[in-house]
Amino acid sequence: MSKDNLQEKAKHILDANFNEDKGFTIPCEGLYPFQWNWDSGFIAIGFAHYDSNKAKREVEALLRAQWENGFIPHIVFHNDSDTYFPGPDFHLSKLHPLASKSHRTTGMTQPPVLGFVLKEIYDIVDDKEDMLNFIKQNIDKVFFNHQHFYNHRDPNQEGLVFIYHNWESGTDNSPIWDDIWETMDPPNYKFERRDTTHVDAAQRPTNREYDYYLHLIEIAKAHNYDDAKIAELSPFLVQDPLFNAMLIKSNEALIELYEMIGDSEDKISTLKAWQEKAITRFNEKLYNEKLGAYVHYDLRNEKQIEHLSSSSFAPLFSNIPTKEHADVMVKTLIKKFGGEDRYLCASFDPESDRFNPKKYWRGPIWINLNWMLYNGLNNYEFTDIANRVKEDSITLVEKYGFFEYFDSRKSVTEHAGYGGNNFSWSAALLLDLLKD
Ligand code: DGY
Repeated sequence: MSKDNLQEKAKHILDANFNEDKGFTIPCEGLYPFQWNWDSGFIAIGFAHYDSNKAKREVEALLRAQWENGFIPHIVFHNDSDTYFPGPDFHLSKLHPLASKSHRTTGMTQPPVLGFVLKEIYDIVDDKEDMLNFIKQNIDKVFFNHQHFYNHRDPNQEGLVFIYHNWESGTDNSPIWDDIWETMDPPNYKFERRDTTHVDAAQRPTNREYDYYLHLIEIAKAHNYDDAKIAELSPFLVQDPLFNAMLIKSNEALIELYEMIGDSEDKISTLKAWQEKAITRFNEKLYNEKLGAYVHYDLRNEKQIEHLSSSSFAPLFSNIPTKEHADVMVKTLIKKFGGEDRYLCASFDPESDRFNPKKYWRGPIWINLNWMLYNGLNNYEFTDIANRVKEDSITLVEKYGFFEYFDSRKSVTEHAGYGGNNFSWSAALLLDLLKD
């Protein structure tokens, strides 16, 4: 497919997934029929390339569902749909006294991408004045969201925030969580899966994994989604390098944007103080010398979770590693993930016995993580390997279509796109990767 055709196809997917009436974009039909937090951010970047009005509407639709305490939920149920489980009646966000009164949502969040998304869309669009006006109207909401994280998700006041659910990580069924599942013994819930009516069960989490997922929500619900209680009681309490790197990148973007807007000295100095503390602690606590990259920290059991995943390299995107550590990380990336027989970058260590090349976040390649990796490698001027990540992403979409995730093995030459098809962020970020 030519570059022009790919771009046209990508725009067509985004436009078809956009809900004109409500002003948001579904990740893909059937499988994900609502608005998802980090999906929305990446989708807005795609729209910024050809329809800045839709980019703005996407961000506004998400922010309209912000809770009164600054929290931005992971799913906004703008509409009814019976194609997804668990829906609004399971999550019951209204249990929290400060939940959105106008929108039903989940009681968990997702990687905080909005800050850097605002900066990205500003950089992309031609009409800077118009976009800066839009940003002026919305930036304080994002700042308020970060404040909520540092006030309620950082019990040690160390600059690193926790997630209490694997769905908050964005990397839903990563093998990283297997160690935590071993510490839990949830009941066997009775529920009807909907995802496996859209996608082959071999590419999705197991029923037993869903028991863990639901149980964590039940614990949070029993305490009305109170962060302090969750910090005290949730068996899943993790400082995730991807999640925290997104927050740090978004802090950096907010500083740049407030400097452009002017007259925001207090917020800029607060953001700078968060940054200094967060980056220092991130490097002390999440870097793993033996593995040569960053790992997750299990705050409940006070230990690093020693596995490599695509999240291990996300800190490059946020300028967190020193140059020395970045050099080591690139060697790790090439040695473990970048053999000649593989496209970059598998979502989990291909040498691990937990690696599964087809199963969601247990191995397949994701375009959003590749987009971050591409930009992160460029931050440190690893141009060749950055270009390889970009070319691999384009090749996979060209060969197999705009799927949700892809097989990293070059030996698989047919049907190597998995999960949902016509997937919005694959389309949106491909548009961004194709821009130059
Ligand atoms: C799912 O249902 O798998 C979603 O990704 C959760 O966010």
